[in-house]
Amino acid sequence: MLKGRNLIEPMDFTLEELEQIFLLADEIIKNPTQYAKMCDGKILATLFFEPSTRTRFSFEAAMLRLGGNVIGFSEANSSSVAKGESISDTIRTVSCYADIAVMRHPKEGAALVASESSHIPVVNAGDGGHQHPTQTLTDLLTIRRVKGRLKNLTIGCCGDLKFGRTVHSLIKALSRYEGNKFILISPQELNVPEYIIRILKEKNIEFKQVEKMEEVIGELDILYMTRVQKERFFNEEDYVRLKDSYILCNEKMKLAKENMIVLHPLPRVNEIAYEVDDDPRAIYFKQAKYGMFVRMALICKLLGLA
Ligand code: NCD
Repeated sequence: MLKGRNLIEPMDFTLEELEQIFLLADEIIKNPTQYAKMCDGKILATLFFEPSTRTRFSFEAAMLRLGGNVIGFSEANSSSVAKGESISDTIRTVSCYADIAVMRHPKEGAALVASESSHIPVVNAGDGGHQHPTQTLTDLLTIRRVKGRLKNLTIGCCGDLKFGRTVHSLIKALSRYEGNKFILISPQELNVPEYIIRILKEKNIEFKQVEKMEEVIGELDILYMTRVQKERFFNEEDYVRLKDSYILCNEKMKLAKENMIVLHPLPRVNEIAYEVDDDPRAIYFKQAKYGMFVRMALICKLLGLA
């Protein structure tokens, strides 16, 4: 039962619960009009203390397409947080007005803290460099629909694997399906955090860490590109040195399998050349669209409406 639950990190839901969400998303994609009044009278609150385009808009569009309403802020300065209000007081207040809340915050653990004081479901829309579980729902729905499975895949994660929260959540989630292998492509300074490596080792999951994309791109079923997370660097110099570590271009795509797919949570900065967009294997905008449908399914489930 997903009604009333929070989603703070990917492991909060069992594989069966995830499957229920994906099945509902498939249904919504097939027959959106049937769901157009599902959330009639319900309110979603979006509390965004950090910039966002896809996550906030896709949540808001999801709620509006379900016939519900949306309140919220996209800058902490425009809320009482600017007056010094705590996360827990903010969420307690929001609980009085809305039926479900989505929160993005620069601090790791912020959504968890909020969920402890909330009377309504809280969804983590990104907490610092930690986790981003609804991006993972988006990624999994996309992989499931395009590749037809979530297991027995070789997944290459490339770019800023240290600060990139989408990668942390994705690796955690995909490591639960059998036969998946990971190739982690990053400069050493931007390797995945130790706790992710520990999870892979504990579960005996095959993985390797490399620095050159060209060496491994031919082995991949999925290439998950990420941007270097400028806002999480301590100094500009390091960012400038590392920001263009990887640039995927048509030349490199020639080395990849015919049926490899390229995913990216977006925004892209420089890491995928625009020429790649025309390659049928580049599906990051389709992925962004699936993000709305999977969030529609999530909202319905957490509100106990489907
Ligand atoms: C990601 C995020 O916010 O972590 N964006 C998103 O939600 N689609 C990725 C990023 O900002 O690089």
